[in-house]
Amino acid sequence: VELPYSQACENNKQPILERLLFHFKDVQLVFEIGTGTAQHAVHFAAALPHLIWQTADLEDNHFGINLRLEAEGTDNIRKPIRFKAGSDNWPQTGADAVFSANTAHIMQRDELKSMMHAVALHLPSGGVFCQYGPFNIDGRYTSESNQLFDYRLRSQGYGGICDIALLCEWTDATKLVLKENIAMPANNRLLVWQK
Ligand SMILES: C[S@@+](CC[C@H](N)C(=O)[O-])C[C@H]1O[C@@H](n2cnc3c(N)ncnc32)[C@H](O)[C@@H]1O
Repeated sequence: VELPYSQACENNKQPILERLLFHFKDVQLVFEIGTGTAQHAVHFAAALPHLIWQTADLEDNHFGINLRLEAEGTDNIRKPIRFKAGSDNWPQTGADAVFSANTAHIMQRDELKSMMHAVALHLPSGGVFCQYGPFNIDGRYTSESNQLFDYRLRSQGYGGICDIALLCEWTDATKLVLKENIAMPANNRLLVWQK
């Protein structure tokens, strides 16, 4: 059987890990939203043996995620739970951190808003949310390729690349604060939020 595969994940997993080694160093359990191919999950869990990595996605992706966990997973990864932002209640995992990569531009705006609110509400005080992907800054694309990507996403019915200011507007009334906004390879960002 062939495992689900994303070339982008292969390219970005090490640069992201280098940041998570710091931001997740005191974390016990990470809840990952939108695990996808699970390439991130197995890579990060193996390099962060002090924590538990809880995968989650829509049911459609569970079969592929389970295949990868069986093939490459370490003891500290948990099988996927169903979580669709905007539809499902926040799962009681005991997570003290959240990770999500390349989900914000896929989700509809109301789903994304719901995810931000849920993270803000359910993270414990001091808890960190690392959010990776393409984001706009002050109403501008950070590259021409992101602009083309965004047109394609929107024409296919996805929410499209979101402005960081809008995320901050949504979280303004909550205790979730954007601590770091890190430029990453391939015109992506790592947003580090803390409650
Ligand atoms: C572009 S993939 C990214 C997968 C993986 N995190 C990565 O970086 O390669 C987007 C993922 O978001 C998930 N997703 C879409 N809508 C979602 C929602 N409302 N709540 C949670 N996950 C969602 C999809 O099922 C898919 O796994």
